[in-house]
Amino acid sequence: ELKDNTVIVVLGASGDLAKKKTYPALFNLYKDGLLPKDVHVVGYARTKMDDAEYHKRITSYIKGTEDPETAKKLEEFKGLASYISGGYEDAPSFQNLNNHIEKIESSYEDKERNRLFYLALPPSVFIPVAQHLKEECYSKGGKNRIIIEKPFGKDLESSRQLLGALKRYWSENETFRIDHYLGKEMVKNLLVLRFANVALSAGWDKNSISNVQITFKEPFGTEGRGGYFDEFGIIRDVLQNHLLQVLSILTMERPVSFSAEDIRDEKVKVLRAIPPIERNDTLLGQYVAANGKPGYLDDDTVPHNSVCPTFAATTLWIHNPRWEGVPFILKAGKALNEAKVEIRIQYKDVTQGIFKDISRNELVIRIQPSEAVYLKLNTKLPGLNMRAVTTEMDLTYKRRFADAKIHEAYESLILDALKGDHSNFVRDDELDVAWKIFTPILHWIDGKNGPSPKPVPYPYGSRGPKELDAFIAKYGYVRTETG
Ligand code: BG6
Repeated sequence: ELKDNTVIVVLGASGDLAKKKTYPALFNLYKDGLLPKDVHVVGYARTKMDDAEYHKRITSYIKGTEDPETAKKLEEFKGLASYISGGYEDAPSFQNLNNHIEKIESSYEDKERNRLFYLALPPSVFIPVAQHLKEECYSKGGKNRIIIEKPFGKDLESSRQLLGALKRYWSENETFRIDHYLGKEMVKNLLVLRFANVALSAGWDKNSISNVQITFKEPFGTEGRGGYFDEFGIIRDVLQNHLLQVLSILTMERPVSFSAEDIRDEKVKVLRAIPPIERNDTLLGQYVAANGKPGYLDDDTVPHNSVCPTFAATTLWIHNPRWEGVPFILKAGKALNEAKVEIRIQYKDVTQGIFKDISRNELVIRIQPSEAVYLKLNTKLPGLNMRAVTTEMDLTYKRRFADAKIHEAYESLILDALKGDHSNFVRDDELDVAWKIFTPILHWIDGKNGPSPKPVPYPYGSRGPKELDAFIAKYGYVRTETG
């Protein structure tokens, strides 16, 4: 449940994540009256500035202030927000932060004092910050929680080191590891779609399903983020976390309950049935200049001979009775022709005989943009004939739930963390098994045991490498035409 008397501390308050995600989410929650009573937001970063300057920045992070109601709420919100500057590696800075928090808390009437620390910080300071927060800023009279974001290491070993170091200060129960895909409306919907519909769950296995694709497409390159990106690459940036999370919920067995531990137990179980990815099941790409846009290597922050993939398609196999033999193709790319994230489940061919050349059914769950679930079905073309046509049973949210508000992933997750609900956060063993699946292929790409593979080029703004169609076809995907 939501605790009153909570101070939310955003560490890295002047950084990109805070600006794009954390503050807008906090403000939207405040505007909708969803934050705890008496909440305060403290920004912390190295940059020196006073509250007035900090408030100016918050204003610049928030959209929609032409609306008088929003503008009024923003003024209220700023009244609850204060700023304090300090370093990330020295105890006195954190003592100073603690004094600041205590001053705020002295206005609370009852005794409970809860603190939520949001680390919107680069990984290089995760450990000292976690340590100092525990040693200098830990509330003795309430709940303490810490939110951290990827990258959680770079491979199995470094992830274990990082988690081990953090665990010295913060227990699993106090730790909330964000994978923001778990906060997305359509990802949360997977539990309901899968387990509340016999019509779907009856055919949810290798007997009915031919192949599954989980696709992430972005229409922009690494512009400005090349330094970060080149160290990680598309697999660590998107596949090992966001797409694998989607895969685990899509394929896990039905949890005994919707409790965080029951759900995460099932996710871990299915992930453990996936062996490490094979090189042969992988296609890597890197975008090159086209359509007036620069190539990846034209980015000044990227080494000129980088072989870092900006596109990857990899096929995973689940060795359990439900999924044996079904390929799960994860693909993600930057600088493609469109923005789209979707799950595409392609069913097997209908038995031939009375039908010839009839399309396969496909169930598509579009995560973004324009949330939708649609099922490609064959139906008789109306009229005095017996011709079949493939069409869609279409649940597009904009039409079906026109007035519904779809909250941003970060809003949903911050609220969960405030409530202490771990369901949509990544558990330590889940992270471990995710790294096990990807570490060998990542070491190969990193050139740890021989020369790095060279990604194939694809033009900025294209559908991806031209090899992609053949790659998908190899796993049995057949293009379906909608009439
Ligand atoms: C982040 C990646 O985790 O997810 C980014 O680091 C990517 O590279 C982003 O752009 C995508 O998130 P969303 O919510 O826009 O799909």
